[in-house]
Amino acid sequence: MHNGVIENYSDLKRELEERGHVFRSETDTEAIAHLIEEHYDGDLLAAVNATLSHLQGSYALLVIMEDTERIIAARNASPIVLGVGDSEFFAASDLTPLLDYTERVIYLDDGDVADITPDRLDIYHEGQKVERPVELVNWCVEDTRKGGFDHYMLKEIFEQPQSFYETIRAGVDEGVRRMLMDAGEITLVACGTSYHTTLVFKYLAESLCNIPIRIEMGSEFKYFTGPLRGLVIAVSQSGETTDTIAALNMAKARNCPTLAITNVQGSTLTRVADRTLLMRAGPEIGVAATKSYTAQLAALIQIINLRCEGMFNDILSHAHLAIGDILLYDVEDAVALCSQADHAFFIGRGPFYPVAMEGALKMKEISYVHAEGYAAGELKHGPFALLTPETPVIAICAPGSTYNVMVSNVKEVKARRAPVIALGVEGDTELPEIADIFIPIPDTHLLVQVLTASVVLQLLAYHTACALGRDVDRPRNLAKSVTVE
Ligand code: F6R
Repeated sequence: MHNGVIENYSDLKRELEERGHVFRSETDTEAIAHLIEEHYDGDLLAAVNATLSHLQGSYALLVIMEDTERIIAARNASPIVLGVGDSEFFAASDLTPLLDYTERVIYLDDGDVADITPDRLDIYHEGQKVERPVELVNWCVEDTRKGGFDHYMLKEIFEQPQSFYETIRAGVDEGVRRMLMDAGEITLVACGTSYHTTLVFKYLAESLCNIPIRIEMGSEFKYFTGPLRGLVIAVSQSGETTDTIAALNMAKARNCPTLAITNVQGSTLTRVADRTLLMRAGPEIGVAATKSYTAQLAALIQIINLRCEGMFNDILSHAHLAIGDILLYDVEDAVALCSQADHAFFIGRGPFYPVAMEGALKMKEISYVHAEGYAAGELKHGPFALLTPETPVIAICAPGSTYNVMVSNVKEVKARRAPVIALGVEGDTELPEIADIFIPIPDTHLLVQVLTASVVLQLLAYHTACALGRDVDRPRNLAKSVTVE
């Protein structure tokens, strides 16, 4: 079994074929099997070790020989977790599948090779035997069940009040607190949904407590880093996203203090970063990030609260209740509109711009309706050309300084005959008049509105995907952890 990418696969394949090996597939993994065969001289561990010296790239490798009870595991830039049972061991690429069997786990480090038999485990690093600690998992197997929901995604959407609350309740330890309080410049790196949370954070932190924040996309950062100073925070649900890990490694190489915000205890990111702020979302199994998104926001909003000397304590201690109120929202009319569409636009301003980007990402990844998130003012700079009566525009119109201009944007969209689904606060009398569909969210603090608006958009994506008969928990072509570049 091999997770990862062998970058010198073509060279290896050519050399192996010249030596008479016949390939049966186009996979890079097959080259590994042929190399092991070539090096095998009665000792599987020695054959795997010799093979590893030829490999360039990333691998989580499990090698088993027919009719033997021995597995050789090797890791480089792709995770492997070993489960420790009673006279048995397990190996997986992440914690979740192990929870059915054991709560005791060992995380392998890059460069580790493990020799596993039912009653013995030896781990080697650079040829030397090493000890890796057995750790207790803080998740339980019930967390990995659907619990009566049709999909993991819906269950995870419903778990958000709890995961938000738990993340706030866990707070930050003294080391992390000091790191955050001492930070001058702060840079955040992340990918995908996690990148969207960092953008929401930037808007909130800069407007609510005047902390300048720089945001970098993990996948770009490695190649276009620019000057880097101050605290670097990597945000990742899985803690295994290769690009985010690479970015954090670069920050370390430049002597920046580093912090990981992640959901997975023991993940690679936690071992790379100087310190970790653990989100308390529990295992997230649906491929689309939902509860980890709001838990990340919980962790990030805590940073704002910390830097503002607890100014938002009260709001944060009640925010989970507002999220709970959203869960049973009826978004049926909006779903009917979106499920007929091939394209949709999500628009917002300020922190609601990345909320719109996230809404669009959720929509496209699970329903396959093409959706784009735009800063509302940008729509007229090109995308207007795409507006038709079949192109719904989902507009987040929160109260405050951008409300009036959002209302103007909605009118502009309507003038181009595109249907509008407007999110606004309860009691708004203007939006229900001009929008085709109005979805009211509670009139709360801005910090809570970004959460409730996000949850509405998750529900919209989820129910649209269900209406279209999509495989919600396992959308095509996507993986839960992106462990390749
Ligand atoms: C979308 C989604 C992805 C992840 C991205 C980063 O729903 O889940 O966009 O957010 O692959 O993953 P993490 O947060 O594990 O680094």
